Parts: sequence; structure tokens; C-alpha cells
Amino acid sequence: MARIALITGGMGGLGEAICIKMAALGYQVVTTHSPGNTKSGEWLDSMREQGFNFHAYACDVADYDSAQACIGEIEGAMGPVDVLVNNAGITRDMTFKKMDKVNWDAVIKTNLDSVFNMTKPVCDGMVDRGWGRIINISSVNGQKGAFGQTNYSAAKAGMHGFTKALALEIARKGVTVNTISPGYIGTKMVTSIPKEVLDTKIIPQIPMGRLGKPEEVAGLVAYLASDEAAFLTGANIAINGGQHMY
Ligand code: CAA
Ligand code: NAP
Repeated sequence: MARIALITGGMGGLGEAICIKMAALGYQVVTTHSPGNTKSGEWLDSMREQGFNFHAYACDVADYDSAQACIGEIEGAMGPVDVLVNNAGITRDMTFKKMDKVNWDAVIKTNLDSVFNMTKPVCDGMVDRGWGRIINISSVNGQKGAFGQTNYSAAKAGMHGFTKALALEIARKGVTVNTISPGYIGTKMVTSIPKEVLDTKIIPQIPMGRLGKPEEVAGLVAYLASDEAAFLTGANIAINGGQHMY
């Protein structure tokens, strides 16, 4: 039986590449989209035309009850989740001087609370079955901080704290927990940065002189999800074109 991989935010730039890669490797792929996303049917149709039979469920990952209900539905219809990729996320960039509580909360809830909300209902099952993979998509900006991102950098750094603590607790149970910290990847999250900031402040800081490709991150997710990666847990793997080395 094919393993089931759940990728949150699979209709976004990185998520779509991860869904495609995992499907190509034979996983049954299920994804989530925001309850307000009106284009989910269109996306599923276009993927089907390309030969991918994905399953999609509405879920507000920032909301505990929505996440529990969504996992219940997925597991009821398809079976237990073997690989969870916590990928859904948002930015609400502004200097700290302008940062208000609404934009602080939105980013912390969507990027960090979501990791608890989605992992909680699948983790015990993985442990009971003796196999599982939890992969958290953080960011280079959680490692080094970023101008205009006190909210996002805090949430993304928090994701790796979660990874390390949970990895310790379940290391002997066949379930690994890892963080991936991508640098700047060419998705709408990055293309919506003001062009002048991207060209003068960001690209020049990337030794490879280019943005990363979603497929490059998807390849790393696929490795972490594999049986070969069984000894790798609690890690934070940077994939950033040399922008930040530590
Ligand atoms: N590094 C250094 N200085 C920066 C900067 C940066 N990344 N971004 C902006 N500045 C500087 C500007 O050049 C400007 O300097 P001067 O006053 O000397 O001209 C000053 O900060 C104010 O900039 P703005 O006029 O743009 O101010 P604003 O209040 O209108 O907007 C901002 C501030 C929202 C932070 C905006 O500049 C911005 O969006 N910056 C980009 C933030 C960013 O890099 N976000 C990453 C998103 S992608 C992502 O998060 C994915 C991932 O994980 C990697
Ligand atoms: P994206 O294209 O904007 O996709 C983000 C996805 O998250 C969307 O599919 C969106 O779903 C989903 N999402 C947002 N809020 C949600 C919510 N409350 N509930 C459910 N789903 C929600 O961004 P991306 O570039 O692919 O980013 C994916 C992940 O990688 C994010 O966590 C991001 O922080 C991280 N990352 C990105 C980069 C980069 O350079 N692009 C770098 C480092 C890390 P809907 O469209 O249905 O709302």
C-alpha cells in the first residue's frame, strides 16, 4: 500500500512542487487549502490534466478545531497519514515600529501554531505504527532574522525548537522530525517583495546569485521522507544558495 503524504498549503509555490515530487515517488498525496480558497477545484483539475490524482481538503491550519476535523476527515477517507509536511505559511512584513498585534498574531498562528495543530492529531498514530516522518518548512529568516519580519522570524525559529523537542521524544519510535530552512525561492511569497528590495538587498546576498527553485526544496523533502533518511532526526537543513552558513 502506498504511503500517505499530507502536504499543507499544497496549492502554493513550494507546496505544489512537493506534491508533484511525492506523487512521482508513489505516495498517495493529500493536501490542504484555506477554507476561503475558491480556486481549489481548478487547481485539482489542472493537476489531474497533468496526470496527478491529488486529494484536497479545506483546513485553516491556524485553527486547532479546523485542523483536528480535517485530519479526521482525511484519515477516515484515506487512512493514516505517514508523512506530514507542515508547509502552509504566510508573511505580513512590516518594520517593528509598524507591527501591530493583528499581524503578529496572524503570522504566529499560521506559521507556528499550525505545526502543533497539524502534528498533534497524526503523531500518536505514527508512533503506534512505528513509522512516520514530520517535516517542518521553516526559513533562512528564522535562522538569521530578516528586516521587516519580527513576526515571521520568530515563528520560523520556533518551528525548529518544536522539531528538536519532538524529535527527542519520539526518536526511538521510528518517527523522525526535521526542519528544512529554505532561502529565497521563486514563488509568489518572494515575487511580491518590492522589486527594488529584491534586486538591491536580497539577490546580492545570495552567493549563487539567483533564487532557489521549488523543485530543489521538493527534492530535499523527498529525501527526508524516505526510508534512507531513518537516522536523520532533529536536524535543520539549510537550502539557501549559500546565503547563510552556520
Ligand atoms: N534589508 C535592509 N534594508 C531594508 C530591507 C532589507 N531587507 N528592506 C527594506 N530596507 C530598507 C529600505 O531600503 C528603506 O531604507 P531607506 O529608508 O534608507 O530608504 C527602509 O528599509 C524602509 O523601507 P521601505 O520604504 O520599504 O519601508 P516600508 O515601511 O514601506 O516597508 C518593508 C518595509 C515591509 C520591510 C518592506 O521594505 C519589505 O517588504 N521588505 C522586504 C522584506 C523581506 O525581505 N521579506 C521576505 C519575504 S520572502 C520570505 O519571507 C520567504 C522566506 O522565508 C525567505
Ligand atoms: P505560497 O505560494 O504563498 O503558499 C503558501 C500556502 O500556504 C498557500 O497554499 C496557502 O493556501 C497556505 N496557507 C496560508 N495560510 C493558510 C491557512 N491559514 N490555512 C491553510 N493554508 C494556508 O508560499 P510558498 O513560497 O509556497 O511558501 C510555502 C512555505 O515555505 C511557507 O511556510 C513559507 O514560509 C516557506 N518558505 C518559503 C520561502 C520562499 O522563498 N518562497 C522561503 C523559505 C520558506 P491557500 O492558497 O489555500 O490560502
